Amino acid sequence: MKPRILVARPIFPQVLEKLARHFEVRANQEDATWTPQGWVQALADCQGALTTGADPIRADVLAACPDLRICANMAVGFNNFDVPAMTAAKVLATNTPDVLTETTADFGFALMMATARRMTESEHYLRAGLWSQWRYDLFAGAEVHGSTLGILGMGRIGQAIARRGALGFGMKVLYHNRSPLPAQTEADLGARWVSKNELFEQADHVVLVLPYSPAVHHIVGAAELALMKPTATLVNIARGGIVDEDALMAALRGGRISAAGLDVFEGEPAFKPGWLALKNVVLTPHIASATMATRLKMADLAADNLIAFFEQGRAITPLNEVAA
Ligand code: 8YV
Repeated sequence: MKPRILVARPIFPQVLEKLARHFEVRANQEDATWTPQGWVQALADCQGALTTGADPIRADVLAACPDLRICANMAVGFNNFDVPAMTAAKVLATNTPDVLTETTADFGFALMMATARRMTESEHYLRAGLWSQWRYDLFAGAEVHGSTLGILGMGRIGQAIARRGALGFGMKVLYHNRSPLPAQTEADLGARWVSKNELFEQADHVVLVLPYSPAVHHIVGAAELALMKPTATLVNIARGGIVDEDALMAALRGGRISAAGLDVFEGEPAFKPGWLALKNVVLTPHIASATMATRLKMADLAADNLIAFFEQGRAITPLNEVAA
């Protein structure tokens, strides 16, 4: 008997076909929205699941799914998983590191540039037929090349953004992480560790790329925003919960900082309607890893984790250890 797996969200047909060669697959190609009860019901008799960042695997779900042995997240972030509860329930957790690093860094850099150079605001102006003549200060934005980039969270994606800034745009790169990188890595990246406060004080563009956990909930709030230069921009490609959105909205309304680029929102896909009323924000629907090539690599790695676990007894990119 093949193990039964749930594929929580629509996925590439070729990945579904690959999974079907190994598993009895319960798919959701029609993209039905799960109610909390429907989610548990669909998962209850499955041994594995291919999940996305929107699909919660927490103690209540685990208690209702006694057959579950592995959840393969199609994401590098895994704040939808309660990993300690999964370990206690002997459920393996996996994610998709590395395959999305460069694509996500591209987007982080693009969002920073779009924010600094007011690209969506000026496009709306053009589309609205408001462009009548050249002006020296028409949508004049902030310089990117040669400015100071501040990266909060210096994992794989943070480092890939640092390389773009230092090597491609001649930026001075500052970063803050719990612990500094080895000196040689810093030298190779052209990046320097500073305290969190120094980062907010000195950066012209702050990019948030740290993984979400309750410990970093609202780590960027009124106090951090108050340290920033009034000309500075803030970009969040990490998780919405990292930023106190009310404080950010107030800072943007009051001209405390100049602009923000947000790809993630607390409570997404719902978001505060106030964002739509602000001109100095660039808003995107959590698409930093969204190229077809990268999404296929993510789906493939998640599928390969399931196959390797059930057929070789060990996953490729595990997040926890569970006794067989
Ligand atoms: C995903 C992400 O698109 O990998 C992550 O952590 O945030 C995105 O790449 C999203 O989580 C869907 O699974």
